[in-house]
Amino acid sequence: MQILQDKKIVLGISGGIAAYKTPELVRRLKEQGADVRVVMTQSAKAFTTPLTLQALSGNAVADSLLDTQAELAMGHIELAKWADLVLIAPATAEIIARIACGMANDLLTTLCLATSATIALAPAMNQQMWHAQATQANIKTLNERGNQIWGPGSGEQACGDIGLGRMLEVDELVSLSSDFFADKYLEDQHWVITAGPTREAIDPVRYISNHSSGKMGYAIAHAALRAGAKVTLISGPVTINAPIGCQLISVNSAEEMHQQALKFAPKCTTFIACAAVADYRVAKIADHKIKKTNDAMQLELIRNHDIVADVASLSTKPFIVGFAAETQNVEHYARGKLMRKNLDLIAANDVAKSGQGFNSDDNALTLFSAIDKTEIPLANKQIIAQQLVALINQHYLAKHN
Ligand code: PMT
Repeated sequence: MQILQDKKIVLGISGGIAAYKTPELVRRLKEQGADVRVVMTQSAKAFTTPLTLQALSGNAVADSLLDTQAELAMGHIELAKWADLVLIAPATAEIIARIACGMANDLLTTLCLATSATIALAPAMNQQMWHAQATQANIKTLNERGNQIWGPGSGEQACGDIGLGRMLEVDELVSLSSDFFADKYLEDQHWVITAGPTREAIDPVRYISNHSSGKMGYAIAHAALRAGAKVTLISGPVTINAPIGCQLISVNSAEEMHQQALKFAPKCTTFIACAAVADYRVAKIADHKIKKTNDAMQLELIRNHDIVADVASLSTKPFIVGFAAETQNVEHYARGKLMRKNLDLIAANDVAKSGQGFNSDDNALTLFSAIDKTEIPLANKQIIAQQLVALINQHYLAKHN
């Protein structure tokens, strides 16, 4: 069953240009099984029409506090009680300010005061308005009251400015809505996850690296967040966005990743080493671009610290899961790393197979403990990560109970 199946979502639309995306948002939430009721402010109607939203949601759109007909159908208090989630998208600076002040001067703000459901706001405004002290103070107030702030994203804005203030994309809002309703079985846990490649500098313009895209590690971070964990993601250089809500620590080299991992690991419950860390670095990084002088050249390489093994030798060590990227004898090598690095679990992937492993959207894993093994068959990395996180939690609970 889809997580949004039969979930009751009030979508509050305020008057910003991003309101033109809300018909698609309604369509996508409905597609996931949600029951959506739309509440619009008067200014929202300048950007999208009630008729479109009514047709897509299958429900009458409410836009007035004083509409006797609408109140007869489902009064504003009833609507406030009905909601499992109130999502305000786009949330303009103006509606954010009014909700933060506790005003009740239209249907949407009144509903916000009258509901006991979580209110999630997806801010959308000019970047200067987002950074304004007043807006930031309002966001802080709303956060402290337990409201969720989804976004904003960064990029080019309708006014031509570039910066923070774009409403999150429809995909991201649907995903966050689904995350909101997911089982929070990792609440009270803190996961530290390494992801992506490392870069070992040769000279100011060249480096040694590998094909890790970060997709697997980022998917695990997303799945752990979705299950309610606090997540610190220590990532090498990648081109994908970190999941919303995680603490992102960006690094380049293995030594930087080592330093950050040892900083965060003693405070976490679970450490996942998904990064493809370079085993060696260049002994002496050239100060200037190396010139072609000979037909052949040699680089002296020295061993990097083994990050996950060093975490495993901490006096207060978390539950530790390593990865093994193998091209042959997968079980043999994976089990060897499990024992040698003193890990609780190791997730092995056969990276010789095409369409999985490095830099692909899919993967297949075999999870080994000292005594058993579990297959996670080929699927999208987001799906794999959800299964892996659930399995890790089972082992974690078995160890701690
Ligand atoms: O990022 P993607 O494109 O999505 O690809 C995902 C992946 C293939 C990179 C991922 O699934 C994976 O297998 N990650 C581990 C890759 C790897 O470096 O494996 P390894 O067998 O060389 O290392 C074994 C373990 O030791 C790993 O947990 C690794 O993070 C850790 N390690 C290795 C060397 C080192 N100096 N420090 C470490 O912590």
